Amino acid sequence: MKSQYVGELKSGQTVKEKFVLSKKIIKDKKDGGYYAILEFSDRTGSIDGISWSGENLNNISVGDFVFITGNVSEYSGRLQVVVNSISLGDDEDIDPEDFLPQYQGDIDEVLTAIHGFRAKIRNPHLRSLLDAFFDDNTFVELFRLAPAAKRVHHVYLGGLAVHTLSVLRLLQNVRSVYDFLDSDLLITAGILHDVGKIHEYTYKKSIDISDQGRLLGHIVIGSEMVAQRIAQISGFPDDLRLRLVHMILSHHGEVKWGSPKAPLFPEALILHYVDNLDSKMEMMRQVFEQHRGKNRQWSDYHPFLEREIYLGEES
Ligand SMILES: [Fe+2]
Ligand SMILES: [Fe+2]
Repeated sequence: MKSQYVGELKSGQTVKEKFVLSKKIIKDKKDGGYYAILEFSDRTGSIDGISWSGENLNNISVGDFVFITGNVSEYSGRLQVVVNSISLGDDEDIDPEDFLPQYQGDIDEVLTAIHGFRAKIRNPHLRSLLDAFFDDNTFVELFRLAPAAKRVHHVYLGGLAVHTLSVLRLLQNVRSVYDFLDSDLLITAGILHDVGKIHEYTYKKSIDISDQGRLLGHIVIGSEMVAQRIAQISGFPDDLRLRLVHMILSHHGEVKWGSPKAPLFPEALILHYVDNLDSKMEMMRQVFEQHRGKNRQWSDYHPFLEREIYLGEES
């Protein structure tokens, strides 16, 4: 945990803390030499910075984790840190929760609820598969931390788990209407449908797409993760493996949304609709949140929802 956060800095304060360098512009001084216009960020926001000795910054780039000392002052009505020293931080010391937005509720409650769904599964093969994932501490830690997206929906630490739980709740409700659906298969696929996201994104200093994410995407990464675990379980039925892998591959519904196959049986179709519903509802919710207090009747055009959203009169 850090002891100083951007959002709490005040004019006159001394700063000795780790931040992510989010801007670096080197400029010439009139009398020779350089200075640097900087910006430092953490999960609470960002603050301008200035260093009068730009030469020291050659080995530091935007996105790096830096340790700075300096003083906070006010310049043109904005706070800025006048930097005395700046050095490259050690990535190993980073606690992502210091730098990235995180779920505002209790993430452990979300995980407990997901385990509650897991406990309902009767099929021994599907139970073994989920045990193989959740007995792996590295997987559990990443699943707990991962965001569900870089932009658009659930863009915060814990977003993947929150989205997964919503998908499971929706699946349960849909299953109560269509009782011929295989509940064990729905729950398993619901839990695993986006597990590829733990490797699709980087989420230490900033939420971004990893090389693996750019080259393969979470659908391919996730289907490989599931197929690999299944291969370790003796006697896992081939038909069940095919169904589960198909559900992961088809959950985006269409080729243009990243799925190589359209959903080809009822459980796969439901997973796609429910996944789509939860991501779109989260986008809608965010639009309302972003406009709260702004007294606007309509949002700007939303590129993913492909429409302007009616906000109406604020009550
Ligand atoms: Fe997905
Ligand atoms: Fe999803």
